[in-house]
Amino acid sequence: MKKIVILFSGEGSNMQALIQKLHNKELKVVKTITNNPNANGIDRSYRLGVDVEIVDHTKYKSREDFDRELVRIISDLDVDLVVLAGFMRILTPIFTKNLKAINIHPSLLPKFKGANALERAFRSDDDIVGVTTHFVSDELDGGKIIMQKSFDKSGMSFSEYEQNIHLLEHEIYYKSILKVFAYEKKIKV
Ligand code: GRF
Repeated sequence: MKKIVILFSGEGSNMQALIQKLHNKELKVVKTITNNPNANGIDRSYRLGVDVEIVDHTKYKSREDFDRELVRIISDLDVDLVVLAGFMRILTPIFTKNLKAINIHPSLLPKFKGANALERAFRSDDDIVGVTTHFVSDELDGGKIIMQKSFDKSGMSFSEYEQNIHLLEHEIYYKSILKVFAYEKKIKV
């Protein structure tokens, strides 16, 4: 069975959806990791039966030191894929060059890369908005796209729009992971 680790920083609703859809079915979520000791997701993960490791980034001198520690912990887990689900840290090449990771972003990349994408996309003139899953590369939100899903936000309030974004995120993230694994299998055969 394939193994993944999920990294999150806050609510962890994507992490929860992934565990509920995939854990002990298509794959095993060996652990979740958060950089935020106060993240609401910590409780969610425990309640879903998955161990959480807290790696508080404020305890490290530099981004590089923090990333080195993540790489060390994750390498020991021997997972097939690292899944970033609302992990709000900018990653250095120490992370991106040593781990195969994917991410989810609340916009139709390459539009609205970086922080506050959800709010920026809402305030924009674009009617068609959506979510993207992609491989993690050296460039922030710039790696190869795995899946996208869009909708027309015209006439929606911010909370309707936000709810829709999260629904779509929960719908495409687990499918994206299955897609990555299915693709790898085809290559190996
Ligand atoms: C999601 O909108 C995700 O796209 C972004 O951060 C948010 C995390 O939400 N990267 P949650 O913690 O999964 O609820």
